[in-house]
Amino acid sequence: MLLPELYARVQHHVLPFEWPAHATDIAEIARLKRERNAVVLAHNYQAPEIFHTVADIVGDSLALAREAAATDADVIVLAGVHFMAETAKLLNPDKTILVPDAAAGCSLADSITAAGVRLLRERYPGVPVVTYVNTSAAVKAESDICCTSGNAVSVIRSLGAERVLMLPDEYLAQNTARLVPEVEIIAWKGHCEVHERFTPADIREMRDAYPGLVVLAHPECPPEVVAEADFAGSTAAMSDYVTNHGPAKVALVTECSMSDNVAIDHPDIEFIRPCNLCPHMRRITLANIRQALETDMHRVTIDPALAGPARLAVERMLAVR
Ligand code: 13P
Ligand code: SF4
Repeated sequence: MLLPELYARVQHHVLPFEWPAHATDIAEIARLKRERNAVVLAHNYQAPEIFHTVADIVGDSLALAREAAATDADVIVLAGVHFMAETAKLLNPDKTILVPDAAAGCSLADSITAAGVRLLRERYPGVPVVTYVNTSAAVKAESDICCTSGNAVSVIRSLGAERVLMLPDEYLAQNTARLVPEVEIIAWKGHCEVHERFTPADIREMRDAYPGLVVLAHPECPPEVVAEADFAGSTAAMSDYVTNHGPAKVALVTECSMSDNVAIDHPDIEFIRPCNLCPHMRRITLANIRQALETDMHRVTIDPALAGPARLAVERMLAVR
């Protein structure tokens, strides 16, 4: 068995016959990282054979943006979707930023264009625009400040405004509005194709089947789903909740690889897995991470006219504590 300690970590998710090819890619990625002074940043939704083997840093969108801003590596491979790699590039214009599959998109990022933001500004003159990081650089460039699900409340409060446009995730905007009742939040109608599929009935059925179940939901879920949960937060906040509270049985109402990754670190906790996969996150594989480091496919580039204003919106977000 190649790399037996790593296989032991992911053995419940990778079949023995799959491992030799993965182990070869993992060893080669490790060599290329050393040779190129490269790091792999992996989102919490990446498959366990990536998350638990080749990632140097793992986290939610906010953590990945902060780490991208702080790293002294020459090359960053963003094992996540395209907007995450674009954010890393905005914060590191002189570094090589690679996304292993350029088609790894996001239904939220696809739900709004820069022209849409300009129309909203005409309709709501003077109202600040807060844009979720799950957007293109062109949309960020039209925005005053970005946010993630991990800092949306602090970002909205930091503006001190009575009304705010919060784009493009309608449900994140509605879930945030409940926590900041003093601010009128105007939403767009974008949705995450993974989280919009959860229903309150899903949660009630899980609770009936597993008495004592603790339910954690991502705020991209519809508000009526969040209302049925015990806690709502970003992927990092959900992971921290499991670590800090150690529930006997837990359901993470979010993309399902997240449960696999957290469960590996908490073998005594029973994870109930409502399984909705993100097809975009699934495009990233060990094979294409290796290929990215071997060939520089796919280098992220950003139109210089957009990069300045988009970077400002991300940097303003990172300055909010
Ligand atoms: P987090 O910022 O909570 O990691 O969420 C990112 C994302 O794409 C959720 O679908
Ligand atoms: Fe986008 Fe939803 Fe996939 Fe996250 S889970 S990357 S919000 S489509």
